[in-house]
Amino acid sequence: MSLRQIFEEHPERRYIMFGGKGGLGKTTFSAATAYWLAKQGKKVMVFSVDPQASLSDIFKKDIFGKGPVKIMDNLWAQEIDADQHIKAYQDEIRKKILDMYGFEQVPEEIEQYIQAASAEPAMEESAIFDAVVDIVVGGNYDYYIYDLVPLGHALYYLSMAKVYDEWINKITKLREEMREYEEMVSRMKRQKHTEEDQILGELQYIRGRINASSRILTDKEKTAFFFVVIPEEMILIDTKKAAELFAKFDVPISGYVVNRVIPHELFTQNIPPYLKNRIVMQDKYLGQIDQTLGNQVAARVPELERDVTGLEMIQRLSEIMYGK
Ligand SMILES: Nc1ncnc2c1ncn2[C@@H]1O[C@H](COP(=O)(O)OP(=O)(O)OP(=O)(O)O)[C@@H](O)[C@H]1O
Ligand SMILES: [Mg+2]
Repeated sequence: MSLRQIFEEHPERRYIMFGGKGGLGKTTFSAATAYWLAKQGKKVMVFSVDPQASLSDIFKKDIFGKGPVKIMDNLWAQEIDADQHIKAYQDEIRKKILDMYGFEQVPEEIEQYIQAASAEPAMEESAIFDAVVDIVVGGNYDYYIYDLVPLGHALYYLSMAKVYDEWINKITKLREEMREYEEMVSRMKRQKHTEEDQILGELQYIRGRINASSRILTDKEKTAFFFVVIPEEMILIDTKKAAELFAKFDVPISGYVVNRVIPHELFTQNIPPYLKNRIVMQDKYLGQIDQTLGNQVAARVPELERDVTGLEMIQRLSEIMYGK
C-alpha cells in the first residue's frame, strides 16, 4: 500500500509518527505529511519535543517555545521548550507552598530543594511528557504528527511512560486503600462524610493523563507509526533491532519509508564511478529491503539535489510522497 492509500483507507489513524535513526528524514517527512494533510483540508498539528528546534529550521520560522504557531491554512506547528515548563512547575510549587502554609516567602531550604529537583533529568522528561499530553488530549486537531527524536530516545520515552504508569498505579492503589480505612473509621465514629481527598484526586488526574497518552501511542486503531530507513547496511541492521523493541512496547508499525534513494536513471548516464558505486550499493540494500519488508514499504523517496527547508521544498516532497 502506498502512503496515500494508508491515509485514505485509515482516516481513523490520526496520530502519526515517523521514527528512525538520527538524520534519516523524520522531521522532513513529518513536515511533508503535515503539509499534504493540511492541503487535503485536515486541521493538522505537527509538534516536536526536540530541543534542537528542528521544525523551526524546516519551516524557516522561529517557533521554539511559542505554543502552536500557524504555518499556513490548516497547519500548525509547535516546539516544546522543556525548560519553560520546568520553570512553570517551580512557580506552581512555590505558590502551593505559600498558599498552604501562609508563608510570606518560600523558605531557603525549600527553595534549594526545588532547585535541586528541577536539575534532575527525570524532571525534564516529565515536563516534556506533560506538554505532549496537553497537546494530544486537547483534541483541537484532526491529525497530530509527532516529529520524533532519534530512535533510542523515543524508546526511552515510551519506557518512561510505562514506568510512570506503573508507579502512579501503585501509589494510587495505596491511597485508595488508605481512603477506605479512613471512611470506615469515620463511619464508625458516625461522622457524616470525610473531606474530599485532594491527593487521591491529583493522583487519579495524573493517571488519567498518562493512560490517555500512552494509549494513543500504542493504539492500533488510531496510531500510524512509520519507520524511516535508507538503503545502507548498518541502518537496516539497527532498524530491525528497533522494530523488535517497538513491537515489545506494542507500538503498531504502519509501514516503512525508504529515503535518499539515488534516482536509478542516472546509472545509464555519463556519471562518475563514485556515483555508480553508490547506486550499485543502494541496489543491493534496496533488494534486501524488498525481500525482508516487502509490501510493508509504503514509499521510496529520492535523494533531492538540495536539503528540504521552506514551504516550496516541503510541497515538492509532499507531491513525491503523496502525489498531487
Ligand atoms: N530525500 C532527501 N533529499 C535531500 N535531502 C534530504 C532528504 N531527506 C532529508 N534530507 C535532509 O537531510 C537532513 C536530515 O533530515 P531530517 O532533519 O528530516 O532528519 P531527522 O531524522 O529528523 O534527524 P534527527 O534525528 O536529527 O531529528 C535535512 O537537512 C534534510 O533537509
Ligand atoms: Mg528531526
